[in-house]
Amino acid sequence: MPVINLYWRLLPDYWGKGLAGDLGWHALDIARSVTHLADELIVARMLPGNAGSVRVAEKLGLTRCSDLDGEAYGVRWILYTAAVMVP
Ligand SMILES: CC(C)(COP(=O)(O)OP(=O)(O)OC[C@H]1O[C@@H](n2cnc3c(N)ncnc32)[C@H](O)[C@@H]1OP(=O)(O)O)[C@@H](O)C(=O)NCCC(=O)NCCS
Repeated sequence: MPVINLYWRLLPDYWGKGLAGDLGWHALDIARSVTHLADELIVARMLPGNAGSVRVAEKLGLTRCSDLDGEAYGVRWILYTAAVMVP
């Protein structure tokens, strides 16, 4: 299914400074300012044990969506989602 993939990855020197959260907010702002994306689903995919990534998704207001969890090449992924257009 077509989705907007929201992804964050920083060099270790930059972890723990709030940057992933800030960048995530800006990315969501940009997506929500683009009219033709209004009906799209924003998806963040991560490993279940990636506590930092899970926390960033939760702080951005994304919702855990286990229906979309999956596995590829023997690796299990969990999904967090948000609508582009918030009613
Ligand atoms: C995941 C990652 C992007 C987090 O970036 P970051 O800039 O350190 O995150 P932030 O500083 O914005 O932290 C956001 C929240 O996550 C928490 N957090 C960050 N790393 C954490 C960890 N390893 N374990 C638990 N909580 C963590 C922070 O405490 C903060 O929560 P709080 O505000 O309630 O204290 C970064 O660790 C990274 O680049 N990791 C390697 C790549 C990766 O795993 N990318 C995700 C692929 S899906």
